[in-house]
Amino acid sequence: MKFIDLFAGLGGFHTGFVNSGYECVFACELEPHLRELYLKNYGIEPHGDITKVDEKIIPEHDVMCAGFPCQPFSLAGKKKGSECPESGRLIDHVIRIAKHHKPKFIVLENVPNVLTIADGSFWDYMKESFKNIGYKLEYKIISPVDVGIPQNRKRVFIVGSKLEDGNFIWPRYNELDKQSLFDILDNNCDSKPLEPKKIEQLAHWQSLLNLINLDKLASMSLVAPEFGADYPLDFSSMTIKQMRSYKGAYGKSLKNCNTWVEVLALLPSYCQKNKLVASWLEKSVKFSRDVYSNNASAIDIWSEKIDKNNNSWQILEWRGRHFEHDIYSHIVQFRASGIRILKPEKAPSLISMTTTQIPIIPSQNRYISAHEAAKLQNLHELPNLPDGLIKSFKALGNAVNAKVVEMIASNLKVWKTT
Ligand SMILES: C[S@@+](CC[C@H](N)C(=O)[O-])C[C@H]1O[C@@H](n2cnc3c(N)ncnc32)[C@H](O)[C@@H]1O
Repeated sequence: MKFIDLFAGLGGFHTGFVNSGYECVFACELEPHLRELYLKNYGIEPHGDITKVDEKIIPEHDVMCAGFPCQPFSLAGKKKGSECPESGRLIDHVIRIAKHHKPKFIVLENVPNVLTIADGSFWDYMKESFKNIGYKLEYKIISPVDVGIPQNRKRVFIVGSKLEDGNFIWPRYNELDKQSLFDILDNNCDSKPLEPKKIEQLAHWQSLLNLINLDKLASMSLVAPEFGADYPLDFSSMTIKQMRSYKGAYGKSLKNCNTWVEVLALLPSYCQKNKLVASWLEKSVKFSRDVYSNNASAIDIWSEKIDKNNNSWQILEWRGRHFEHDIYSHIVQFRASGIRILKPEKAPSLISMTTTQIPIIPSQNRYISAHEAAKLQNLHELPNLPDGLIKSFKALGNAVNAKVVEMIASNLKVWKTT
């Protein structure tokens, strides 16, 4: 069975299909450094821009793979099923190549919202376009955690076939094989150490968790500025005079304030813009005030030492185990919204946009390495990753999980013969 790899990137499709016994006969990728890397890793030099690829030069193949980039498009507002959108969209080139070659199967991958974007009209457009050239599309949302890899990354996998009868059998998940991120860590790997200030901040938050001795902590944030505060959660219609009877961030009294500028300066940053606490934060704000009222004097001492220069470090977003409040047995991300604590069974999705959210292993005071991140995509056997952490994480964050692909590729082979 031969396949082609459109929008090849780091080659998640390539690795998955080759592991399942297929042969790659063509690839294309826009980025020169990824093309170079693909050649080094797989011995195939990808063509460049798909819009310039003449479909006639592509060899015959059984499966067409395409992890097409999720482009903005302008179907929104138009009536469902309306006329063809403007040309030049990358999916149109996938359709153009499929129409010429008519491979047995088409395998596409993208973010799940490709199904719902523009009121579902893009998905309708895809289904209709492939139907017009003889394919039926089926889809399933799959995350690597479903196949035993500790990364939470929901993606939609779409399989197109010319078969009229029978549905594609999606890979069976093996919950028993569940791994934790700690199971895949390397010894002595080349990873970025955690900055001393972040180490200090985590230790300080851990000392609070030890101090307050909570029974259960379920998807809740500890919002430190609320310790000692009692200002109304919505003060948008209050006067300065009314505000003077309350306490702001860390219990600072508002009684001497004469202007809104002075009031707001003593309130937490997250409520300053609209003079209210956003509804998504309300529960955590109330919870934090309760925690404070039960432990006031100990928390007052603790609050003196928290780093107040960084707003997001003053919020601990607990998404970890409910009854085990040990930061060091978890994974951490320093996010704009707060310090997020996550279960090691579900590492956050590697995302291509930013390296600021690279998961941290707090027990080892370090970020995960590029090789460990490659394991989360089942691409760790690649001889080469892009140079440097930023390029590596970007490419890995863009890639399709090769294990999920391999399972789909294997099921396609069986399907062919039934
Ligand atoms: C979502 S990523 C797919 C990654 C790939 N599936 C993998 O496993 O690494 C989309 C890729 O399409 C490439 N790309 C974007 N526009 C392109 C074009 N016009 N022609 C070819 N490749 C393109 C991007 O550089 C990027 O590597």
